[in-house]
Amino acid sequence: MAAQPRSGKVTVVGAGFYGSTTALRLAEYDVFETVVLTDIVEGKPEGLALDMNQSRPIEGFETRVVGVGGGSYEGTEKSDVVVVTAGLPRKPGMSRMDLIETNAGIVRQVSENIAKTSPDAVVVVVSNPLDEMTALAQIATGFPHQRVMGQAGMLDTARFSTFVAEEVGVPVASVRTLTLGSHGDTMVPVPSRCTVDGRPLSDVLPADRIEHLVQRTRNGGAEVVALLKTGSAYYAPSAAAARMARAVMEDSGAVMPVCTWVDGEYGISGVYLGVEAEIGRGGVKRVVESDLSEDELAGLREAAEAVRAKQADVADL
Ligand code: LAC
Repeated sequence: MAAQPRSGKVTVVGAGFYGSTTALRLAEYDVFETVVLTDIVEGKPEGLALDMNQSRPIEGFETRVVGVGGGSYEGTEKSDVVVVTAGLPRKPGMSRMDLIETNAGIVRQVSENIAKTSPDAVVVVVSNPLDEMTALAQIATGFPHQRVMGQAGMLDTARFSTFVAEEVGVPVASVRTLTLGSHGDTMVPVPSRCTVDGRPLSDVLPADRIEHLVQRTRNGGAEVVALLKTGSAYYAPSAAAARMARAVMEDSGAVMPVCTWVDGEYGISGVYLGVEAEIGRGGVKRVVESDLSEDELAGLREAAEAVRAKQADVADL
């Protein structure tokens, strides 16, 4: 079978662990022509790109990785997708919300630069606090809401699935889970949509064990932060962000839980929130609503109001 032609350019802003791991995953897919990795630090993205490129003969991919340091956007122009990882990660004991002021300044500046250099890009934000930084990136780029989304639901869902698989003792591929709402305290894991080999989760695990896994999922990021002591998770987060960027580039129409603009779905309007959406070339093609239990719907509405209050604050940061 002939290799698929590579096309498009994706830029990853921020060459920390999250950004560099995302860049490597994107390069290894071998579907993009170019992956650009940028950072305000001079030399780091260049060095990482050089190293990643030298793995090509071993891993067998042809995508070229370009490193751009010193806060420059030269070489990122006309990117099809931009993944924003810029900002500080949490330290043990911090909530994602503790980062809001520092990261708002960084995300605003990055967004303004993206708007100038890649005005047609789809932007995937991963900086924390996620829902607020996604809303801010849309305001600062001035892009249509559909072209700015945040990565969180895929990560939270992956964590939930992993915990269920380990608890039940089945392969992760046997498990389907879903989380909606915010990437924070008002995250809404949706047990009614979870299955193990097609069986409802409630037939497989007792309610108290499901509740335990739900809590562990809500606390999933903090659990990793507490162990690492410095920095936050990046392997699972980068896998999620890279899959979203790939779905955009391939116009796959894949349905993924993402942070996107909700405008009437679930009776909620005018807020960035974690819901399922169809992802393709223009970003979010449509929000996909599913049947939720009354409790889950109430949780989603509560998350929307919590996020709405904070998103109003970031507009001025
Ligand atoms: C986490 C961070 C990346 O959940 O938000 O691990």
